[in-house]
Amino acid sequence: MPAQLIDGVALSQQIRAQVGQRAAALAARGRRPGLAVVLVGDDSASAVYVRNKVKACHEHGLHSVLEKYDASLSEADLLARVAALNADPAVHGILVQMPLPRHIDPHKVIAAIATAKDVDGFSVLSAGELTTGLPGLRPCTPYGCMKMIESTGVPIRGKHAVVIGRSNTVGKPMALLLLQAHATVTVCHSATPDIGVHTRQADIVVAAVGRRSTLTADMVKPGAIVIDVGMNRNDAGKLCGDVDFAAVREVAGWITPVPGGVGPMTITMLLVNTIEAAEALP
Ligand code: GUN
Repeated sequence: MPAQLIDGVALSQQIRAQVGQRAAALAARGRRPGLAVVLVGDDSASAVYVRNKVKACHEHGLHSVLEKYDASLSEADLLARVAALNADPAVHGILVQMPLPRHIDPHKVIAAIATAKDVDGFSVLSAGELTTGLPGLRPCTPYGCMKMIESTGVPIRGKHAVVIGRSNTVGKPMALLLLQAHATVTVCHSATPDIGVHTRQADIVVAAVGRRSTLTADMVKPGAIVIDVGMNRNDAGKLCGDVDFAAVREVAGWITPVPGGVGPMTITMLLVNTIEAAEALP
């Protein structure tokens, strides 16, 4: 029997309905949740992402501020804008779109965002909160992957989870979230000699590498939950993930499609984080 699909569009709709209710409840208390998105330069993909983030805010009753700057903006001026947004009571979440122009140090900019407003969860302090199990804002993509795993109804506690990829934005926080949910976690990466040795033992596999056909059917334990974070193009130019979807679907128990899987969840979790940031204020 082929795997059940974990539908990221449907799950996003459910979560966004709750976001709308929570935003309305906050607004009724005089605290309309607000997200500031800062875009520096004219990267066309970034412009699309940013537009989608602002649109999602409008659709669910969040206030949003979009600040667009020329690629020549100085690092000092960007840091000054972040400081102003940190102090703005109408802004509960701040997202500076990456990548930044080369003359700006992204680490400095991320560190300048108030931890309570770090809705990307990319800062060293947010990462430290996650590592130590303190409450805080979690990076949106792995947070969305957790919601997708939870949606299967399979308890995570005691399961073996394998994360393929060790990026600061997905792989590492994903492993920590699974650990916090009491999974036994293995992290594989480009220097792992045989990834299949690990994934064949896994009840949950999260592939976050950025290379198609990283996870093939022979690498998957029958019945496993497979989450595909990849966004690649095949030879025909069609969007595909890191997982050999058609073949793995015949082995896995649950699988996320690409497109329509993890992708839609990322912006949804950005909205959730903005709501959480607004709700966490005294
Ligand atoms: N660029 C691509 N994805 C992201 C993201 O999730 N957050 C930020 N800040 N920049 C990005």
